[in-house]
Amino acid sequence: MPPSDARPWWQTAVFYEIYPQSFADSNGDGFGDLPGIQNRLDYLQWLGVDAVWITPFYPSPMADFGYDVAGLTEVHERYGSMEDFTGLLGDFHERGIRVIVDLVPNHTSSRHPWFLEARSARDHPRRNWYIWKDPGYGGGPPNNWISVFGMDAWTLDEATGQYYYHTFSPEEPDLDWRNPEVPNAFREVMRFWLDLGVDGFRIDALWMLIKDRHFRDNPKNPAYKPGMMRYDRLAPAFSNDQPETFDFIAAMRETADAYPDRVLVGELYLPVEDLMNYYGGGRGVHMPTNYSLILAEWEARTVAKTIDTYEGALPTDAWPTWALGNHDQPRLASRLGPAQARVAAMLLLTLRGTPMLYYGDEIGITDAPLPPGKSRDPQTMDPHGRPREPFRSPMAWDADSSGGFTTGEPWVELHRNYDRLNVAAQQDDPDALLGLYRRLIRLRKQEPALHQGCYVPIPAEGGVIAYLRVHADDRLLIVLNLSGEPATFTTDRLWPAGEIVLGTNRRRESGRVDGSVRLDGNEAVIVRLEGE
Ligand code: GLC
Repeated sequence: MPPSDARPWWQTAVFYEIYPQSFADSNGDGFGDLPGIQNRLDYLQWLGVDAVWITPFYPSPMADFGYDVAGLTEVHERYGSMEDFTGLLGDFHERGIRVIVDLVPNHTSSRHPWFLEARSARDHPRRNWYIWKDPGYGGGPPNNWISVFGMDAWTLDEATGQYYYHTFSPEEPDLDWRNPEVPNAFREVMRFWLDLGVDGFRIDALWMLIKDRHFRDNPKNPAYKPGMMRYDRLAPAFSNDQPETFDFIAAMRETADAYPDRVLVGELYLPVEDLMNYYGGGRGVHMPTNYSLILAEWEARTVAKTIDTYEGALPTDAWPTWALGNHDQPRLASRLGPAQARVAAMLLLTLRGTPMLYYGDEIGITDAPLPPGKSRDPQTMDPHGRPREPFRSPMAWDADSSGGFTTGEPWVELHRNYDRLNVAAQQDDPDALLGLYRRLIRLRKQEPALHQGCYVPIPAEGGVIAYLRVHADDRLLIVLNLSGEPATFTTDRLWPAGEIVLGTNRRRESGRVDGSVRLDGNEAVIVRLEGE
């Protein structure tokens, strides 16, 4: 709950993304469900997270793992019932944990009743809820746009002779937000969940919402290189990030603001300068997702520059946010290796701004094996598209078969080494990654310098990055070694003397530093500085 200076709760909170299909299965069908989450509330409270984002659990044919929503205000029976959801929400709240849910406004499932009606006849009143166009000059698609998943972005509906547009798979037709009935319908969807008491939304694919009014061809992408996804061949100048988007976001914000203490998180993958527009001077989303550290090379100078570029671009009063993983991206521990995953945990939980954790990263889950040809991910329609199942594998709760995730057959394999990389194995081991996350979360909560202080970068060299977090007289110095080699941090701008309050190596805690900070390879520390 908000600390005494009454900052909005979402600024001081640590968020945790739950991919419900993979979190905990209560009925042995191999898919996670809402009662499964319910059974793990003690864990989430023990870990210390303040808010969870639950990805879609709505009725869906699962062409895109539930992001193809066929019922916007219902619960898929695979996940449980509406009663399960409201019960879960109440129990989260009782424990002081907020809950945000996914809002998917860009598209619906092609099996959503709206689309079934729209496709039924050219003159159906619901037709223009979606984007329909006659074939282009000489036949074929109306323009050159490519879907994110690599296929043509237009699919011909033979029966009515027109193409419909889909940013993602053909099973996910885009809604036409320029038709006022669509935003109106979504206002009702938002109100439905807000009335139930959810604390806000993570809004899917927000920058895709509005398309060029004239549907002009996208230009070639000069940065395209063979090996990139097919989508990257064109620069999406006309198919996304259109200026009119902000008016629609402002309307969503108004809807949310009619309820106390709600938050909007917008899913956005955009260059930093474009991302900032989505704060909308207080009329946009509260937190446009910042995935710059997921996309940056894990190298000290690049990481430092990425942080500083983002900090430098933030408008006044815009609150930062950070993530190192999500259900669309390779696992952190696979990308960085287990030793750097510890350093990354300290980075994520000591930067200025709301951290968003991805379930399982706290126990070091790696990308799970997936037998060839087994992916059902539409992204693999693109020859260079990676299947995302390995990034969404089940949470491992213990070393039992299926990691305690299910008594049945899990929907995808677990990560290797789950006999070791599981909650039970790490929960009582303060040196394990899980213990490090927990100590970091606790310290972040205790220290105003960490949850609300300023961020002051300090020049460093080699594999090291360093910064101060400052609040009133408290100064915490964070020094992270992003390399595997030992390193010494010294600076003429600051003569660090103080006590190590937290380290990736616990044995360093309570130790003193004076004049310089010596780190092993893959080591990071938080030092409470003394004096002026
Ligand atoms: C978002 C989701 C992704 C999904 C896509 C289409 O990027 O995170 O998982 O495939 O939108 O809804």
